Amino acid sequence: MIKKFGILANPAKHSLSPVMFNAAFKATGIDAGYGIFETPENQLASFMEYVKHEPISGLSVSLPYKEVVIEYLNQVDDDVKKIGACNTVLNKGGLLYGFNTDYKGSNIALKNIVGDLKDKKIVIIGAGGAARAIAYGVLKEGANVHICNRTKSRADSIAIEFAEMFSSEIHSASLNDLRTGDILIHTTSLWTKEKGSKTAYNLPPKFCTPEYVENFDIVMDISYKTLDNPLISAAKKMKKHIITGDKMLFYQAIEQFKIWTGKEAPALVMKEALNRSLV
Ligand code: ATR
Repeated sequence: MIKKFGILANPAKHSLSPVMFNAAFKATGIDAGYGIFETPENQLASFMEYVKHEPISGLSVSLPYKEVVIEYLNQVDDDVKKIGACNTVLNKGGLLYGFNTDYKGSNIALKNIVGDLKDKKIVIIGAGGAARAIAYGVLKEGANVHICNRTKSRADSIAIEFAEMFSSEIHSASLNDLRTGDILIHTTSLWTKEKGSKTAYNLPPKFCTPEYVENFDIVMDISYKTLDNPLISAAKKMKKHIITGDKMLFYQAIEQFKIWTGKEAPALVMKEALNRSLV
């Protein structure tokens, strides 16, 4: 029987995971397909029941469900417990297991450019599930972190929780109280939600302004929907090192494939499929 996998998110139609995973299944001869499960919030509970019974063998989880999905899982690993967010679900005989490959993907994407992350000063914009995973990953490597978020209380929660787990520094701030550092990482859903909105592009937020971007050597944006968003454009003009969202997507997907199939991922095939679909 063909195994089913897919992405749970809202919106989800823009996802490039299907092209990567369908190419990977084909290349490895695995009889499986990967689809899109764009699910409104009021249908999340029934969707998770459907996953168990259909059955859907595995899910990638993206915004806004990385945190809330945990309550529908039977078991989560230590990383998910500590991060408080899950981006990978494995269905084994109707029991749902949660993992987090985001932090592994972001660490590889960062280390490929930066090398050692120890003692680097990293400013993270946003405090959702992706920000949690990235902060956890870089703190594990000994970096110092500042989380800036529109809703400051969410940034405060991450700082308080992670300060208990790691010896390096973690602070929180509001979105208008931007701090400086070596690396700037943008994780909000702003570009995903605002695609096509002239307002968003004509009036870029403060963290995209040349005066602010100037403070950093490296700029990373986890959104891959529009590679040329206002932040990446500003960073490019200023000749900063740039890490675009497709890098984290790719490396975290390699880890997801291993969790779902128990096999090494066909990395080159997945990279080529991803590159063909990037805009
Ligand atoms: P994910 O789990 O994928 O990270 P999320 O939990 O929905 O998704 O988090 C989205 C992030 O984008 C949050 O940091 C959110 O800020 P709030 O905590 O204040 O909601 C941020 N975000 C979304 N829209 C935004 C906007 N228009 N301006 C600034 N931040 C925004």
